Amino acid sequence: MADLSVQLTAPNGHTWTQPTGLFINNQWVKCSTGEKIASINPTTAKEITSIHAASAQDVDKAVKAARAALNNPCWRDLPGIDRGKLMNRLAQLIEDNRATLATIETIDNGKPYSVSFNDDLTETAETIRYYGGYADKVFGQVIDTTPDKFAYTVREPVGVCGQIIPWNFPLAMAAWKLGPALACGNTVVLKPAEQTPLSILFLANLIVEAGFPPGVVNIVNGHGAVAGAALASHMDVDKIAFTGSTATAKQIMKMASVNLKNTTLETGGKSPLIVFNDADLEQAVEWAHIGIMYNQGQICTATSRILVQDEIYDRFLEAFKAQVKNVSKVGDPFEESTFQGPQVTQAQYDRIMSYVDVGKSEKATLVSGGKPFSGVGDGKGFFVEPTIFTDVTPKMRIYQEEVFGPFVVITRFSDEKDAIEMANDSAYGLGSALFTTNLTRAHRVAKKIEAGMVWINSSNDSDWRIPFGGVKQSGIGRELGEAGLAAYSNIKAIHVNMKSKL
Ligand code: NAI
Ligand code: MG
Repeated sequence: MADLSVQLTAPNGHTWTQPTGLFINNQWVKCSTGEKIASINPTTAKEITSIHAASAQDVDKAVKAARAALNNPCWRDLPGIDRGKLMNRLAQLIEDNRATLATIETIDNGKPYSVSFNDDLTETAETIRYYGGYADKVFGQVIDTTPDKFAYTVREPVGVCGQIIPWNFPLAMAAWKLGPALACGNTVVLKPAEQTPLSILFLANLIVEAGFPPGVVNIVNGHGAVAGAALASHMDVDKIAFTGSTATAKQIMKMASVNLKNTTLETGGKSPLIVFNDADLEQAVEWAHIGIMYNQGQICTATSRILVQDEIYDRFLEAFKAQVKNVSKVGDPFEESTFQGPQVTQAQYDRIMSYVDVGKSEKATLVSGGKPFSGVGDGKGFFVEPTIFTDVTPKMRIYQEEVFGPFVVITRFSDEKDAIEMANDSAYGLGSALFTTNLTRAHRVAKKIEAGMVWINSSNDSDWRIPFGGVKQSGIGRELGEAGLAAYSNIKAIHVNMKSKL
């Protein structure tokens, strides 16, 4: 045990015991190969610590633990109300450890501490609490047919659920998946993103402290192509839930087909934000800025394509540039005044810089940013300046492809029809936003946009009580809200013959 944790101190002076092993059956274990993955602090590009990397054999061990837990009367027969109590206790422990978890999130991911503390941790605790409330409310129906048949349904857990988590909101994404899975009585093998495993590993100890039986939640850090693939292709895993890139989702879907796994995918996006002539311009500018620049632009629903109606285009652009200049303060994520920290990894930093080159070569106009920011420490962190391209057309790659950074393209449209066509000119369909003060137009356009979510006069203010997910190549299934329960329960129909003879 002693060598499966390490004492760490963050730049804000906060100290904690960081688990470094694999969490299986409520215990910390070493991986079978001895391989470790370094977790990097993106502010400095230096290693924080290194974490055991699960092999396929380790994943198998975790799946066996989850299967045993599913059949263990301590979990299988636990009344929903008691599952809910465990989840509420976990939510409370997350709140009790808010400062530690927020510190870990910031050092490992790079997001500003104020954001980790206020936003990510609230969302994490509240999502678990929200689904804890559902744990004793997942039930079926009685279906009236004829006097000869009595029928009812019950809702059962799907079984052993594999959950693959991305690095942009590590704890919150884990909560989005753990919440409904546990509420419905499933057991879980969760794989954090190898770039940001630290906060989720810390959470593992809180799961034990809350009183969950061994094997209900297992957490195995590891490479996507090894541990993630082992989970997606495992014959004894009943479900795979994934958040990440569309390219990886396609591979997961193929792997999941080996035993026809129940599959939920939440993938990429290139979400449009439409500003009509009659919009409240100040409001549109504020939300348009948040919609793409929040969380270093690393949000699947980021409204990364801004479409502005001709007459107000120039005024919008000037105001948007000013907003970026005044609000998007890039800096050390532990500084209170910082709005934008570093990108999560060198790979993401490189990806953004490569799209700056793409934009330039496509002859779009770079009006702001487009270069690294080296003003923090020794300049080795993965910081980029908030980047705006204009004169962008729908044919361009920077209009079509997800960049996943503080990188926005702005273009103009003439009328409503034009706006809808341009908004829907995408392989993706995740988020979308529109700004207008015309009530009927707002709802008319909302209906026509091909997306899983539409924000009217805001952007990206998602909420755990409201369903979240995509259409087209942005995913399959819904998370959050009551809809999120459907992904983690099967309906069993029970027919009762009331006739004594045929
Ligand atoms: P990714 O989709 O490859 O990684 C996400 C998760 O999937 C990680 O836990 C990873 O270990 C796992 N994974 C990777 N390959 C796998 C495989 N073959 N089998 C099973 N699991 C696998 O995303 P990556 O490479 O970190 O980022 C690339 C791009 O993906 C980003 O630039 C962004 O466009 C998109 N992305 C979207 C996210 C979202 O919230 N929808 C989150 C993270 C990335
Ligand atoms: Mg990291």
